[in-house]
Amino acid sequence: MMHPRPLATNQAEGMQKAVKRKATTDEQSSQLKRRQIARERWNILIETIHGQRTSQTQQSVVSVRRFQSYGLLQTQKIKTPECENETEDASWYQYSCHSFPNLSLIVRHLSETIKPSDLLGFNNTGNVCVWPSEEVMTYYCLQNHDKFADANVIEVGGGMTCLAGMAVATCSKASRVVLTDGNEQSISNLRHIIGQNKTGGTSLSARMLRWGPTLVDQDLKEQFDIVLCADCLFFDEGRKHLVQTLHSLLKPKGEAWIFAPSRHKTFYMFTDLAKNFFDEEQPEVYDTTVWRLHKQLQASSEVYDENLHFPLFVRLIKGDPTNDSRDTTPESR
Ligand SMILES: C[S@@+](CC[C@H](N)C(=O)[O-])C[C@H]1O[C@@H](n2cnc3c(N)ncnc32)[C@H](O)[C@@H]1O
Repeated sequence: MMHPRPLATNQAEGMQKAVKRKATTDEQSSQLKRRQIARERWNILIETIHGQRTSQTQQSVVSVRRFQSYGLLQTQKIKTPECENETEDASWYQYSCHSFPNLSLIVRHLSETIKPSDLLGFNNTGNVCVWPSEEVMTYYCLQNHDKFADANVIEVGGGMTCLAGMAVATCSKASRVVLTDGNEQSISNLRHIIGQNKTGGTSLSARMLRWGPTLVDQDLKEQFDIVLCADCLFFDEGRKHLVQTLHSLLKPKGEAWIFAPSRHKTFYMFTDLAKNFFDEEQPEVYDTTVWRLHKQLQASSEVYDENLHFPLFVRLIKGDPTNDSRDTTPESR
C-alpha cells in the first residue's frame, strides 16, 4: 500500500526545485552576459586593428561600463592653462563632492579611444575610466579623512587618476601620499594631475609600482600606515603578487583598504589568499550612503549588476611580528 507523502516534504521538494530552477536561470543569464561582453571585446579589438572604431562601439566600451558611477562625486569639464596645449588624448575635469565641500580636485582623464599599442602594452584598464570602486573608495576616504592624520599613504593600481590618493593628499593631514600604478601612461597622467593641485603640507608624488614576485624598492619597504587599492583583484596572475606587495609596503600594524566588486568571486579568491598573512575585517555596510544607493540601484536599474559594480570592502591589518607567532611573510613564499 502506498503511503501519502507528508505535505511538508512535498512543499520542501517543490521549494528546492524552484530554487534550483532560479539558480539555473541566473547562471544562464550571467553566461549570456559574459558571452555578450566577450563578443563586444572582440569587435573592439578587430575594429581597433583595422583603425575603424565607430563611435557606437566606443560608447559601449564593453557593456560593464553601462553603469558608470554612484553619483557620489560631481564632475565638470574645464579648461586649465595646461589644457590649451592639450591634444585630443586628454580632458580636464573639476571634481567636487556635495557632502564634502573641501574637495576640489583638478583631474586629467585620458581619452577612451583604444590604440593598438594599448592592447599590446601593459594592462590598460586603469586608463579607460574611473571605475565605481575608485569612486566609492574616494568617498569613503573623504568620510574618514581624520584617519589619515600624520599617516604615510600609498595607492596601488590607482590607474590614470588615483582619485582616492589625490583626495587624501588634498583633504587630509596625511604626512605623505604616493600614487602608483604599473602602467606608464597612467604615471605620466598622474604627474600632470599633481602639477595642477595643491596640498596643505602633504608630500605628494607618483611613481611606477608593479606588483611582482620581487620585493618592493627598499625606500618603499614597510613605510606605509595605509595602502589604498580599488578594483585590482580580477587579474588571476596578479592576486598573489598583490598580497606580497601590500605586505611589503605596510609597516607592522599598518592597514590595506581594498575595494572591489565580486567579479565572479575574484574578490573572495583574493581574501582567501590574504587572510593567511593579515587579520581582516569585511563589513558589509561600510558606509550607509553607499549601501542605500546600492539597494536603490538593485531595485530600479536595469544596467546595474552587483557582481560587476558593487564594491565590497576588506580591511587587511598587518600583524606586529614581535607579538605574532604565525608565519606571516608572503614575501618569503
Ligand atoms: C580596473 S583598473 C583600476 C584602476 C583604478 N583603481 C580605478 O578603479 O579606477 C586596474 C589597475 O591595476 C593596474 N595593474 C594591473 N596589474 C598590475 C600590476 N601587476 N602591477 C601594478 N598595477 C597593475 C592597471 O594598470 C590598472 O590601472
